Amino acid sequence: MNLMTTKEDLMMMLDDMLREPTAFWNEFYADREKEVPFFVNSPDENLVHYVQQGIVQKGAVLELGCGAGRNALYLAKQGFDVHAVDLSSAALQWAKERAAEEQAHIRFEQANLFEMPIQANYYDFIYDAGCLHHIAPHRRLQYVEIVQRALKKGGYFAVNCFAENGAYGGSAMSDWEVYRQGSLQGGLGYTKEKLQMIFKDLQEVEIRAMQPIAQPSAMFGLDGFIVGIFRK
Ligand SMILES: C[S@@+](CC[C@H](N)C(=O)[O-])C[C@H]1O[C@@H](n2cnc3c(N)ncnc32)[C@H](O)[C@@H]1O
Repeated sequence: MNLMTTKEDLMMMLDDMLREPTAFWNEFYADREKEVPFFVNSPDENLVHYVQQGIVQKGAVLELGCGAGRNALYLAKQGFDVHAVDLSSAALQWAKERAAEEQAHIRFEQANLFEMPIQANYYDFIYDAGCLHHIAPHRRLQYVEIVQRALKKGGYFAVNCFAENGAYGGSAMSDWEVYRQGSLQGGLGYTKEKLQMIFKDLQEVEIRAMQPIAQPSAMFGLDGFIVGIFRK
């Protein structure tokens, strides 16, 4: 019976207007030889910068949408206590193999962010590389609530995502248009102003363009991405 009686019923109805993500992402990671920029095993340049500059210091970290684990692995090797979440079992299988090869201890969890239990005021740092731009507008508020709840006071949240009309994607369509079209058009694009509005309850530390880095390299960076770090 499709009777909406709760807010979650409404959220599920809106989910249903868009692509189901788990099968999509499992298929996406099925071929590891595919030419996908973020299939490399090097950490984001912005993440390395935050760690090297001492902005983010060793502690408990939650990675949202960790994929094949390149950033989780970097953080674990830097001495962070890493909890890395992704809904794709194929991505996590690859991430676990990478971690085993490097004898890195990481707590990997297969879960949809919006269904997992959250440890409140627990994490010193929350990181997201390329997940937020795949989150539908109606789930974005919940995403912000997860970050707010999970972070300790004084903890940091950092994100990288498509800039609007960037080199790799980043639709500039309105949130309303997403539901008219039934698609995120491969991922939503963000601007500095949009990130400031979305994370208005956090203190902005820095928002800038990601620095593109030719591969192979010890760091990863792409043109057309925006990176931001905020403090609770
Ligand atoms: C563009 S990939 C980036 C992967 C990784 N962060 C990296 O940069 O290499 C986005 C990832 O977010 C994950 N993802 C998307 N929506 C999610 C959700 N609701 N809950 C958990 N993971 C999600 C996907 O499975 C995918 O691995």
